[in-house]
Amino acid sequence: MDTISRIHLDVLVDDIPAVEGVFPLHGLSVLVSVEYEEGIVKKLLFDTGPSYRVLLRNAETLGVDLNPDAVFGSLPHFHHIGALQSGFPSTPRVLPPPPLSATSRDFSQLQGFPGVFVLPSDSYWNEQGLALRTPKGWLVLVGCSVHGLRRTFGAELVGLGRIIGLIGGLNISSRDVFNMSFIGRLARCGLELVLPLHSTSMEARKTILKRFNSYDFGYEVSGCGVQADIEF
Ligand SMILES: [Fe+2]
Repeated sequence: MDTISRIHLDVLVDDIPAVEGVFPLHGLSVLVSVEYEEGIVKKLLFDTGPSYRVLLRNAETLGVDLNPDAVFGSLPHFHHIGALQSGFPSTPRVLPPPPLSATSRDFSQLQGFPGVFVLPSDSYWNEQGLALRTPKGWLVLVGCSVHGLRRTFGAELVGLGRIIGLIGGLNISSRDVFNMSFIGRLARCGLELVLPLHSTSMEARKTILKRFNSYDFGYEVSGCGVQADIEF
């Protein structure tokens, strides 16, 4: 059981709403349902956002059964994992080390999730992302890209090889030529699915979707409430 055949995304918390009825909030939470060839589905909550109440409310609005097998935290900061203060007390957690702690971290498999790997960053915040190995290439999830995408994850991303998908907080404004051109570099190497969220400005989201994304998510803008199936 290590071949990923499908990924379903439910964006439960984000700064910008993509649909009516959800409550936007500065932060991020994405429920990632990973389906394997054998039909087995494992659910991972990638970040929780700052508020457990808002997370529950948005999940209910979107008709999402919020019962993940594990919670993954990308950044040790309230707006990414704050809901853990009151939510998911008995769910396994994979959290980043505290900021400034001198731990050396390697690219490693996420326990219990075949084909899913923890992507370390070059950041004193110890931010971490995820890399999902699909039959078409890597699909990467990042939470905040706290120092900008290229500075935070650039070396790791370039080292991965073919990346087909990039989802999450890219920390880019539309005037950020440095990071925008880095996405262009990834696009020239096979990136075709991009879902910018959280730390990406509204204008930058539209620019990135127009220039670098060829996957039809069916929404005018990426944000809270996006629900998508990605098949491989
Ligand atoms: Fe953030």
